[in-house]
Amino acid sequence: MAKLSPLLLLLILGHVIFFTPTLSCPEYQKQALLHFKASIINATSSTESTLLNRLQSWSSSSDCCNWDRVSCSSSFSSRTVIALYLEDLILQKDPMVLTSTILTPLFRIKSLTYLDLYHNRIQGELPGDGFANLTKLTYLDLTGNDFIGSIPSQLFNLRYLQYLNMRYNSFHGNIPKEIGNLTKLQELCLQDNNFFDEIPSSIQNLKELKVLDLSHNSLSMEIPIDIGNLSSIVNLCLTDNKLTGIIPSSIQKLTNLETLQLENNLLNGEIPSGFFNITGLKTLFLGGNNLTWNNKANIVPKFALSVLSMKSCGLKGKIPYWISMHKTLEFLDLSDNQLEGMLPHWLVEMKMQYIIMSDNNLTGSLPPGLFDYSNLVLLCLSRNNFHGELPNNIGNANSIMALMLDGNNFSGKVPESINNISYLVLLDLSNNKFSGNTLPNFWYSSPEIIDFSSNEFSGEIRTNFFDKTRILALGKNKFSGYLSRTLANMRKLEYLDIHDNKITGELPDFICQISTLQILNLGNNSLQGSNLDCISNLTSLRILDLSSNHLVGEIPAKFGNLTGMIETPDVFSYFLDIGINGINGFILDTKIHDLIVNWEKSKQGLSFDNLKLYSLLDLSMNQLSGDIPASLGSLNALKLLNISFNNLYGRLPTSLGYLENLESLDLSHNNLSGSIPQSLAKLQQLTILDISNNKLTGKIPIGCQMDTMDDPSSYANNCGLCGMQIQVSCPEDLSPTKPPRVEKKETWFSWEGVGIGYVIGFFVTVGILYLTNSFVPTKPPNYRRQQRGRRV
Ligand SMILES: *[C@@H]1O[C@H](CO)[C@@H](O)[C@H](O)[C@H]1NC(C)=O
Ligand SMILES: *[C@@H]1O[C@H](CO)[C@@H](O)[C@H](O)[C@H]1NC(C)=O
Ligand SMILES: *[C@@H]1O[C@H](CO)[C@@H](O)[C@H](O)[C@H]1NC(C)=O
Ligand SMILES: *[C@@H]1O[C@H](CO)[C@@H](O)[C@H](O)[C@H]1NC(C)=O
Ligand SMILES: *[C@@H]1O[C@H](CO)[C@@H](O)[C@H](O)[C@H]1NC(C)=O
Ligand SMILES: *[C@@H]1O[C@H](CO)[C@@H](O)[C@H](O)[C@H]1NC(C)=O
Ligand SMILES: *[C@@H]1O[C@H](CO)[C@@H](O)[C@H](O)[C@H]1NC(C)=O
Ligand SMILES: *[C@@H]1O[C@H](CO)[C@@H](O)[C@H](O)[C@H]1NC(C)=O
Ligand SMILES: *[C@@H]1O[C@H](CO)[C@@H](O)[C@H](O)[C@H]1NC(C)=O
Ligand SMILES: *[C@@H]1O[C@H](CO)[C@@H](O)[C@H](O)[C@H]1NC(C)=O
Ligand SMILES: *[C@@H]1O[C@H](CO)[C@@H](O)[C@H](O)[C@H]1NC(C)=O
Ligand SMILES: *[C@@H]1O[C@H](CO)[C@@H](O)[C@H](O)[C@H]1NC(C)=O
Repeated sequence: MAKLSPLLLLLILGHVIFFTPTLSCPEYQKQALLHFKASIINATSSTESTLLNRLQSWSSSSDCCNWDRVSCSSSFSSRTVIALYLEDLILQKDPMVLTSTILTPLFRIKSLTYLDLYHNRIQGELPGDGFANLTKLTYLDLTGNDFIGSIPSQLFNLRYLQYLNMRYNSFHGNIPKEIGNLTKLQELCLQDNNFFDEIPSSIQNLKELKVLDLSHNSLSMEIPIDIGNLSSIVNLCLTDNKLTGIIPSSIQKLTNLETLQLENNLLNGEIPSGFFNITGLKTLFLGGNNLTWNNKANIVPKFALSVLSMKSCGLKGKIPYWISMHKTLEFLDLSDNQLEGMLPHWLVEMKMQYIIMSDNNLTGSLPPGLFDYSNLVLLCLSRNNFHGELPNNIGNANSIMALMLDGNNFSGKVPESINNISYLVLLDLSNNKFSGNTLPNFWYSSPEIIDFSSNEFSGEIRTNFFDKTRILALGKNKFSGYLSRTLANMRKLEYLDIHDNKITGELPDFICQISTLQILNLGNNSLQGSNLDCISNLTSLRILDLSSNHLVGEIPAKFGNLTGMIETPDVFSYFLDIGINGINGFILDTKIHDLIVNWEKSKQGLSFDNLKLYSLLDLSMNQLSGDIPASLGSLNALKLLNISFNNLYGRLPTSLGYLENLESLDLSHNNLSGSIPQSLAKLQQLTILDISNNKLTGKIPIGCQMDTMDDPSSYANNCGLCGMQIQVSCPEDLSPTKPPRVEKKETWFSWEGVGIGYVIGFFVTVGILYLTNSFVPTKPPNYRRQQRGRRV
């Protein structure tokens, strides 16, 4: 997996060829390695047999030079351990944690030149004193552990170091200027940590550096002007930092440059035209800055790019023609610019794999030629002005994995040939004017995410339903008829949204068999029946909206067992890998879905960042009757409880006061009677309360948030409520002294788009892992995911 430098490979091969059996490894080195093995076994409390098949050959009875993962020098006078390949000792599924102290025995092996600790989940600070012993190191790979703290200064004494890889850890601090002492470095990879402060200008001393990757940190200030002195650099990646200032024009001196990634910083000024003289450049990412491009119409680039990203670069007018000169282009991202006009003919001819043009003002219909080749992997044209029907030959592009055409004005039927796209994982056609009464059948594929919401689809929801689908969004259409039993074939479904349609029939119990469901929105249909009981089988459910239907019967007491509303699962994100190999990929965060739920009288939008915190229960506008079950009081993750506009009667259960996260409680328009329990004063997060139009009596509780619930309309039309909130004094309050006012709490999240809809956007991260250089070893599969999780 890890690639050796050719020199080292020769060394090691040489060693195998000239193997001298007479000498074995020094006893102290063998003991050190056995000690290391023992401390791993200790730390993981696993038995030798289950754990370390990977260190099985390490036994005290054999020569350590013959062990797996160990290489020794080939000197004739003595043999010493020079290389340790300790990557992936721990499997992803092993629950164990290693601390950096397990490395201690290794620091006795001073002859080490090569140490690979890739992907072991080791935690703690890097032991600087220990590494000070390893003065011969040329190769050090710490990728994908959980190291914290700053880079120990002792590392800068390792003057033979050629390869230093610390990516995907939690290091922080600055990058010390002593980095410039490591003059033999060829690769320096510090990406995906928490480094901050400036890039030291001493970095220019690294004359042999070929790869410099500092992306995904918090580096700030300007890119050092002397970066142009890195004369050997091939791959320069500074993505996702907070770098300011202009792009130093000295970059154009970097004649060996093949990959330049500067996207998502705070760079400004003009894109230096000298770039276009770097003949070897293949990958160029400039988007997500505040760069300008003074329409260099006559530019004749000297390079032929395969990857170009100019997201948010202020491009105006037509799609720039010079792009057509890059005959080798495979990836093009021009999203979030102000491009207009139609997709040019030359662009279609280029037969690219990845085309991302979302958030522009492009028009016209899609040329059939776009789909007449099978290279296309991703087509993202979201939020433009495209119109017309999709070409019938769309299925010819049978390598498409993600097709995002949402937010346009496409119309007509979805061509049947789309069923032939066997790799499709994400299909977003939402917010268009698609119609027709048949959904695609996807005989040959099974998309994970399907969003057809906000269109004009009609008829019964009938398709063969797809067993890999995790999100199915069909809201805001004109679907009618019964729900099909085959819905329950979707064994991985987490999100089902069919709100604002005309679905009829009983609330089907097969819905309750989809045990993976976290979000179920069937609001605003014509569902009938009293079959709510089985919903309590959906223990992962945390958002349930059945509002505006014709449901009858009681609210089942079993709802109190909806575990997802007690402790909401805290991970809800999607990561789709698109592409095959590589690293330094391109991450496209797309907002793929809106979930509309009622929030008080207005409808508003929530930001996705907080989505993991949401738990909502909305049964309003039905004909439910009976008491409010006291068990609802256990759903203490609920942010919203809306059971208004039903026929509920009886008293309010005291247990409602246990809903400590509740922000909105709407019990209005029922037949509830008795007094309001004092326990409601314990709802410290409450900002919206409506108990109007009931038969409630007695004193409105005071204290905490209840003191701020002083909108009289929230209490209107009851049978004799009193209290300071409505300025009606209660008989029992003999000397009514106004309690001190408590400031009204702000809601816990920031609402957006007040008054348009209570919108939950689902962001799907589409990772396009694109091979940008051949130096970096393959990325471990889960890093990006973990890393993003951490980042949130
Ligand atoms: C293993 O753990 C025990 C106690 O936790 C400790 O006494 C012992 O020294 C450890 N052995 C090694 C090899 O780390
Ligand atoms: C450095 O190596 C020596 C033996 O050569 C050893 O005694 C010492 O503990 C090592 N230092 C660290 C910090 O491990
Ligand atoms: C780095 O090199 C400078 C001289 O070039 C030297 O003074 C300094 O001690 C070195 N620092 C380290 C940490 O080796
Ligand atoms: C960096 O390049 C500049 C000229 O561009 C030169 O004056 C300077 O000496 C170089 N610095 C190093 C350390 O090579
Ligand atoms: C790019 O090269 C052309 C000729 O090869 C030259 O005229 C131009 O000045 C160069 N541009 C920059 C910015 O160096
Ligand atoms: C972007 O740059 C322009 C000038 O080029 C400046 O007016 C504007 O304020 C900058 N915007 C941001 C967000 O920095
Ligand atoms: C997009 O283009 C249409 C005409 O095609 C124009 O009316 C509209 O103003 C443009 N919108 C933006 C944001 O430029
Ligand atoms: C969308 O297309 C329809 C015809 O299909 C047209 O009447 C309508 O004006 C278009 N809307 C926009 C916003 O372009
Ligand atoms: C789907 O593919 C098959 C064979 O590859 C072809 O015969 C069929 O016509 C295609 N269907 C559509 C609707 O294009
Ligand atoms: C219910 O859906 C219809 C369209 O099917 C829409 O017109 C109406 O506003 C929706 N009602 C609510 C309460 O959202
Ligand atoms: C709900 O779960 C119970 C017990 O686990 C089971 O008997 C019942 O069939 C389930 N109901 C549905 C509709 O799946
Ligand atoms: C909730 O589940 C527990 C056991 O899991 C059961 O004892 C209890 O009766 C259930 N509560 C309701 C209201 O169904």
